[in-house]
Amino acid sequence: MKKVNTNNFKKTLSKFSTGITVVCVNNNNSIYGKTVNSFNSLSLNPPMVLFSLGNYSSSIKQFSKTKFLSINILSSKQKELSDNFASTSPNLENIKFLKGKNKTAIIPNCIANLECKLIDKIKKGDHIIFICKILELQSNDKLKPLVYFNSKYF
Ligand SMILES: Cc1cc2nc3c(=O)[nH]c(=O)nc-3n(C[C@H](O)[C@H](O)[C@H](O)COP(=O)(O)O)c2cc1C
Repeated sequence: MKKVNTNNFKKTLSKFSTGITVVCVNNNNSIYGKTVNSFNSLSLNPPMVLFSLGNYSSSIKQFSKTKFLSINILSSKQKELSDNFASTSPNLENIKFLKGKNKTAIIPNCIANLECKLIDKIKKGDHIIFICKILELQSNDKLKPLVYFNSKYF
């Protein structure tokens, strides 16, 4: 075993394969989205999930002040969306967002979508953990997931 530093922390954690989500908020008809793989289920009853966002993120203020948000689980065909929403100024022009019950911005053609209410935020280290209650959801059995492992898409 080695002492932890930023480089070996990143490298070691990259060996944990994940799906990829884009989390979106719609604040006064302005949509903000971020690519996030820190998504996880938290509670079955009530149904809750969580993800964390760096407190240095350009979108952190928008996520911190929202009441509702969408979590869009990407399919294997949506690698470009992952790259797009990992950038500071994602291009939203060609995305035909659907509207959730609470005006959330839902990305079409995902393997699954969740509409959530933000119920808690916990600051830890250089990230904020967002705890969300699921209000509505849908999934598609015919699509395959976009998988991230070793800093590469699969
Ligand atoms: C596959 C993938 C997963 C990511 N997961 C997270 C995450 O869970 N939390 C996070 O804060 N940033 C994550 N990022 C980085 C953000 O998407 C974004 O690049 C970062 O916040 C810097 O951009 P910003 O300052 O405009 O927010 C991920 C990026 C990629 C490509």
